[in-house]
Amino acid sequence: MIAIALRIKLVPSPDSCSILFVCLGNICRSPAGEGLLQHSLNALQLQDSIEIDSAGTIGYHTGKLADHRMRSAALNRGVQLQSLSRKITVEDLHSFDLVIAMDRENLADIQRMTPEPTAELKLLSDFLGDEWPSDVPDPYYGGDEGFEYVLDMIEAACPAIIHSISP
Ligand code: 4NP
Repeated sequence: MIAIALRIKLVPSPDSCSILFVCLGNICRSPAGEGLLQHSLNALQLQDSIEIDSAGTIGYHTGKLADHRMRSAALNRGVQLQSLSRKITVEDLHSFDLVIAMDRENLADIQRMTPEPTAELKLLSDFLGDEWPSDVPDPYYGGDEGFEYVLDMIEAACPAIIHSISP
């Protein structure tokens, strides 16, 4: 009986796994992370076992859909981005299991929010090889190619993210 109880405690339940993507405005990079990872999980029929969300370190775009250029670029890859922008909270850093920041500035901003987050804090590039940059470049003030590059980076990272959370 004790062994059974220990086993239940030690083996993480897939139901408890939750991931939050974070960027600055939550209208370009992190909603793309949320949408693309959700799409991959759906394809693998893992959608019921992992909760995905996204947020920004600023609240300037709160309540807005993702930038139309990112929605269009994602749709061209078969992914509809539907999330509404929101600002990250301290509560997020205690309720999510894994927080994935898009760049080092986002990560530093998150780390300043609370000294002891229970969530594991990572960069998206932690799930990529050395051929990729450390930061997912902010595409907001650039051209269409920037949005494509963000999607390329996220698509490349998804298999390692899924592998890292697989029980
Ligand atoms: P994101 O891009 O952080 O990938 O959502 C940005 C969106 C908006 C702004 C900056 C970056 N902004 O300055 O409003």
